[in-house]
Amino acid sequence: MSAVNKFLWWQKGVIYQIYPRSFMDADGDGVGDIPGIIQRLDYLTDILAVDAIWLSPFYPSPMADFGYDVANYTDIDPLFGDLDDFDRLIEQAHNRDLKIIIDFVPNHSSDQHPWFIESSSSRANPKRSWYTWRDAKQDGSPPNNWLSVFGGSAWEWHPPTDQYYLHSFLKEQPDLNWRDPNLKEAMFEVLRFWLDREVDGFRIDVAHFIMKDPELRDNPLKPVPSSDYHKSLGDYDSQIMLHNQNHADIHPLYREIRQLLEEYSSDQPRVSIGEIHIFDWHEWAEYYGQDLDELHLPMNFQLLGIDLQPAAIQKVVESMEQAIPPGAWPNFVIGNHDETRIASRRSEPEARLSAMLLLTLRGTPVMYYGDEIGMREASIPPERLQDPWGIRVPGLGRDGCRTPMQWTSQSGAGFSAAGANATWLPIHENYRKTNVDDQLREQGSILNLYRQLLSLRKSAPALQVGSFTQIKDVHEGCYAYKRSVNGSSTYFVMLNFSAEKLVLNISQPEKGRLRISTLLDREEIVDMANLHLRGFEGTVIESIA
Ligand code: NOJ
Repeated sequence: MSAVNKFLWWQKGVIYQIYPRSFMDADGDGVGDIPGIIQRLDYLTDILAVDAIWLSPFYPSPMADFGYDVANYTDIDPLFGDLDDFDRLIEQAHNRDLKIIIDFVPNHSSDQHPWFIESSSSRANPKRSWYTWRDAKQDGSPPNNWLSVFGGSAWEWHPPTDQYYLHSFLKEQPDLNWRDPNLKEAMFEVLRFWLDREVDGFRIDVAHFIMKDPELRDNPLKPVPSSDYHKSLGDYDSQIMLHNQNHADIHPLYREIRQLLEEYSSDQPRVSIGEIHIFDWHEWAEYYGQDLDELHLPMNFQLLGIDLQPAAIQKVVESMEQAIPPGAWPNFVIGNHDETRIASRRSEPEARLSAMLLLTLRGTPVMYYGDEIGMREASIPPERLQDPWGIRVPGLGRDGCRTPMQWTSQSGAGFSAAGANATWLPIHENYRKTNVDDQLREQGSILNLYRQLLSLRKSAPALQVGSFTQIKDVHEGCYAYKRSVNGSSTYFVMLNFSAEKLVLNISQPEKGRLRISTLLDREEIVDMANLHLRGFEGTVIESIA
């Protein structure tokens, strides 16, 4: 068996996140849908050639948090299509060897979910304990000091039953109580429902939130408010999130969830990817499980908040490699539906360097739709804001990174036949220049850079599964590493994060074949002892034996 065959698809492959509302609108209502994704399968499998797509939620939902408030875990919102469309997507994707990962939202449902409607109907309802209800304190205040990530208290008063309920996000997103065995079993049934429909895995929303302190103790206050995240979260930064998330009981629960997935994995290996916003490396790595028996991939967000400089990248890579248990598989993220678009966080040359970094580090890359064409953060006029977080806390809105995919320079950007003002979020005004069609024609476009990186990665076992060795002391502005695996070519990745021209001297091997430059303007044999990199140029060089 060749080295690469021992690895599973989610280790070798590249995952591409689709925000279904914004990818492709097949029915012209201004909102993307599943038939739209089916129409664009050629793009995913032939033009980009990614290995898996992760779909943000498509479940029936009042859309208070754009689908992260689920009103039925086992159906499709009519906005996106129906279960037949979903089955068609699975079938057509699988025919092309494209895997489908879906979002599983276990921490909270919608307040319109029948479970919550029952739970809130009376204190005696059998589903009362499927959510967390508590009496007020004597003075009428909430049971503890926990805060909602989206601002304010995490408790909402419910006059009809004279109790508070817990919501770590919006009040329309009451937290489910995984300590109730019936709720747990109902959620396991949800997983089985989708596994039976042949999904290849789950991205688990705020996976670290589902077990809280059973005594609901107050969180300690921080001496000085500070954010663990790379941006300030307002009030939320005033507390140490000790008791409202990440309780030790979460680990046995993930072992059970993993067991469930294993039962389905004999013919078709399934993957669990956890959204773990924990920035202590050790606590984060615990989600792999000591015996690698919990999540396959706790998402690693640590590249998002750093300066794009060699020392900072090195720190992330080394800390991650030291923290993960033996045999655990890394992953990296540089953008998603909660983050400012990379093309707006970085300059264009840096966005290209980030693409090369993401697709050549050791571990599974998770791409975000539109980043491959350098889609920029859109500025949304106040009257068209959609994201409840952004409406509540100016500056924290996420609409700007969720605008419709820019396919063409035509009206509607090839996304929707609805008029330009009728898409759910406005299309970024730069779509006439920044779009798939034009970039396919433009040889040096960022899209063609992504395509080349994806294609090289697919053909190069070293880049998919090889070892990673940093080449130290090359130059302080340059992050350089080697990827190699027995029996195949070795690759050198040299990323110049400085504006300076560099002449580098790599002692071994003597010659290399420069396969990709981030500027896409050279492919040549290079002398490794006299290697020239332009300012902000990255290169992938194949060693010549
Ligand atoms: C994390 C998701 O990525 C985000 O979009 C959502 O608002 C929260 N979880 C709540 O579900």
